[in-house]
Amino acid sequence: SWTTGNVIEEQVAAIREQVGDKRAICGLSGGVDSAVAAALVQKAIGSQLTCVYVDHGLMRKGETEQVEKDFVAATGVQLKVVDAEERFLTALKGVSDPEEKRKIIGREFIRVFEQAQAEIIADEGPAVEFLVQGTLYPDVVESGGGTGTANIKSHHNVGGLPEDLEFQLIEPLRKLFKDEVRMVGQELGLPEEIVQRQPFPGPGLGIRIVGEVTKERLDLLREADAIAREELTAAGLDRDIWQCPVVLLADVRSVGVQGDGRTYGHPIVLRPVSSEDAMTADWSRLPYDVLAKISTRITNEVKDVNRVVLDVTSKPPGTIEWE
Ligand code: XMP
Repeated sequence: SWTTGNVIEEQVAAIREQVGDKRAICGLSGGVDSAVAAALVQKAIGSQLTCVYVDHGLMRKGETEQVEKDFVAATGVQLKVVDAEERFLTALKGVSDPEEKRKIIGREFIRVFEQAQAEIIADEGPAVEFLVQGTLYPDVVESGGGTGTANIKSHHNVGGLPEDLEFQLIEPLRKLFKDEVRMVGQELGLPEEIVQRQPFPGPGLGIRIVGEVTKERLDLLREADAIAREELTAAGLDRDIWQCPVVLLADVRSVGVQGDGRTYGHPIVLRPVSSEDAMTADWSRLPYDVLAKISTRITNEVKDVNRVVLDVTSKPPGTIEWE
């Protein structure tokens, strides 16, 4: 019968057999799938695995630290972190078009990842033959037909792999659904924040700033997003919500009054949705007092934000993300 213990035991044995005395590389995205896949492979082959985390500067508050510190502490994995924030910000300079942003982020990600890979191979020698992927069962099924949304937005998942790969794949989650992956992650002792993380797009906050992406805007959005997440968690709503994008309308300004003066600041949009699979979604009917608390805190604590608005559009017609 299905137990997380059995799944772990089986996969560990299979991975050991597959890899032998060779070496493997795994890209970590901060998400649950790559984290659980890496933890399983780490359990199987230990120091024969090296993980790579590309910090593109588009993550939410605290997420890079979760990978660098908490994930490493929980698994003992060898991790190579590449700080590529400057590079991504430079590449995104002056770009407002959503698809253009996705293309740039995807392209830069692959370049940085390949560079890191080359450095690992230079250090470790030709024994690096395997690449770990956090592919889930629904991904396997979908890759035949493709998803509806894929036609609307080019979904580049930055956990994804370079196309001209010469590696053999290790995909220990191929038979699992998301909730099963979470249980396996829990059993492996991974941090709660990683195991229970809600979906977050590969291009990160880059597609939650309507307008050009700059460091200043990212910092502002990171603060607002952290407040919203904190309050939703405090209110016990995490399980009711599929995800809650927080969006900065960087090119919009409106008049406000704060303290003793007129302000001319930016709006923040809250986009809480309920969904089964992200193909369709309904806007979440959040309690007014929770919304009020989030709104008060964001306008008080985040510089240059003087208005918080709620998105009450389902999908369709609105997509979950604004870009
Ligand atoms: P939309 O906005 O199309 O989003 O309703 C559906 C789901 O996909 C996520 N999403 C992305 N994930 N790369 C990703 O890895 C992307 O470019 C991307 N765009 C949207 C979104 O967060 C939601 O869960």
